Amino acid sequence: MAKPTSKVLVINDEPLILRELLKGLNAAARSLENPFGISFVGALTAREGLALIERDGDVQIAVVDDRLYAAPDAKAGNGRKVDGKRSLQVSAIKLVQKITALRPEIDIYILIEKEKEDQVVDALFAEAVDGYFYREERDYRGMYRILNAQIAERARTPFYDALKAYVMAAKDAWHTPGHSSGDSMRGSPWVNEFYDFMGEHVFDADLSVSVKALDSLMEPTGVIAEAQQMAAAAFGARRTFFATNGTSTANKVILQTMIAPGEKLLLDRNCHKSVHHGVVLSGARPVYLDSSVNRKYGVFGPVPKKTILAAIEEHPDSQLLVLTSCTYDGLRYDLKPIIDAAHARGIKVLIDEAWYAHARFHPALRPTALESGADYATQSAHKTLSALSQAAYIHVNDPTFNEHIFRENFNMHTSTSPMYSMIASLDVSRKQAVMEGYKLLQRTLMLADELREQINSTGVFRVLELPDLLPDEVKSDGIRLDPTKITVDVSSCGMTVDELQNELFTRFNITVEKSTFNTLTLLLTIGTTRSKCSRLYDALMRISREQRAPRRLYRSPELPPFTHLACLPRDAYYCTGELVPLLDDTDRINHDLAGRTSCDQIVPYPPGIPVLVPGQHITDNIVEYLVRYLRVQNKVELHGVVYQGYVPSVRVLSKQEERLLAGLAPVRRTRRRST
Ligand SMILES: Cc1ncc(COP(=O)(O)O)c(C=O)c1O
Repeated sequence: MAKPTSKVLVINDEPLILRELLKGLNAAARSLENPFGISFVGALTAREGLALIERDGDVQIAVVDDRLYAAPDAKAGNGRKVDGKRSLQVSAIKLVQKITALRPEIDIYILIEKEKEDQVVDALFAEAVDGYFYREERDYRGMYRILNAQIAERARTPFYDALKAYVMAAKDAWHTPGHSSGDSMRGSPWVNEFYDFMGEHVFDADLSVSVKALDSLMEPTGVIAEAQQMAAAAFGARRTFFATNGTSTANKVILQTMIAPGEKLLLDRNCHKSVHHGVVLSGARPVYLDSSVNRKYGVFGPVPKKTILAAIEEHPDSQLLVLTSCTYDGLRYDLKPIIDAAHARGIKVLIDEAWYAHARFHPALRPTALESGADYATQSAHKTLSALSQAAYIHVNDPTFNEHIFRENFNMHTSTSPMYSMIASLDVSRKQAVMEGYKLLQRTLMLADELREQINSTGVFRVLELPDLLPDEVKSDGIRLDPTKITVDVSSCGMTVDELQNELFTRFNITVEKSTFNTLTLLLTIGTTRSKCSRLYDALMRISREQRAPRRLYRSPELPPFTHLACLPRDAYYCTGELVPLLDDTDRINHDLAGRTSCDQIVPYPPGIPVLVPGQHITDNIVEYLVRYLRVQNKVELHGVVYQGYVPSVRVLSKQEERLLAGLAPVRRTRRRST
């Protein structure tokens, strides 16, 4: 089993003292138990120290001398004193802030003089300092023990540890699940193969709420509460909650928590379908913001900043603003000015970070939504970290968070039998992110750069960079690209996207994340290896060398602009409605649908962005789009379309229901969601 390596960086400007410190501390590390592979390294200047922290992902702790002096420098001109006295390189506070900005997960200790203790401790009180050592004490073994314990604390996984201990204790189960640690399958001639394939721990770690030692996801007070607190500290949240049904459920929980029926909500019309489901569940009165579209590549972009700011001004009575950052294709907002504008109007902000859980752990990907001031962020830990599918984090920084209402909604959506291995994976993902996230992301970003170059070198496939991806409307909005998402223009390869995906799969065993009519998107994560990149490059190079004649690629139909809401989405959804076919008797588009109101959300999946939301006015244009979608994109699921036999149909309000629901109810302004 691979053993961890940890470095403690000591920054002290006196070469002799530094040498002595390192010698003493390394001797202590060698002679005492050292489960984390700790060694001590030194830097004589703040700059050197910061460079080391940036370069070396194994640095886990920085021990900073509170007096870092610049050496006397006769040449001057560099801000140092020339009269032989030494000037401060940088104050301890500044250095702590710089280290935290670079790698917030790093623990920091300060070396201080006894006489200056009060001064230094007071000044650093508000900073992320974990402890102090007296410079004069030279108790190397004592220091080593404390630093070792500090790493042990961060590397703890309270829930996973308890789960493992419980499984190893092999208690007899007189409770659910029915497979009883796999006993029902192990000896079965019919299903033992499944048991063997999945592995014993899938079953013996599959436990139930009856096991009190493992706490309760619904009302955590023990190891789950502890694991959630550690996740909050890691992600920079006031509170973090573990969700076991994906960001899909996390979004619904927040919408129901923040919005009462009839209250206003601002949302990107291209939000994930779960946000639109949250609109139905909460009874919100949505104001849809049209996002930008890159028509050349069929990629949806962010909502233009000026559209968002105008909507905030026009609808200051909104309770919540919901945006997706980053998008499926890696486009992320310059969030701070948007969130500041929303807050200035008393509007809370939820950022769907389903694709961005890793961002906190590398400065090239920050700021995260929380760091930009968001009140809520939802993250699919399973998409970009090591968590199991469906595992997600809900982070809360809302200063007026109403925990009771949140808990009611969280529990409404949470199974009373959550999967314990999924909870453990959230605990372990947090541990990995704080212990080696920076290092792994450093590698991932490097691989992404290399892969970009390799793909471009094929001369046939071309990686789209930010200027290629950005729609014109958002070119000056400060949008950035998450480099771990690589979108490739495949229009010169002589195959349709479907053919190319099929070729990659059947000939080279390669599956990609998503496609448009002329692009493929690859997702690189902390699990991406160099050999996997090489295999993809090899496949693309071989395909390129086969020199197929270019093919004409048929553009996917373009999503029609949002029309308007005839009534609240929830009111339409709960009507009985009637089914109206998309096609008429001659197999042409059915004009009878135009002017009607949809009861359902119609969503092509993937990517999961609705064409119609409940309550939306239907036009010929929309019907035409849906019909073309069904004909051209026959492999895409079209959620919400109902088949009457072979006839695809849409559920719409009956004429009588239309009359009953005509017009939107007045906006409610209860603001009862804040404490
Ligand atoms: C933007 C966005 N939000 C939410 C989700 C749902 O996440 P999950 O699969 O964790 O439920 C997705 C899924 O693809 C998504 O793309």
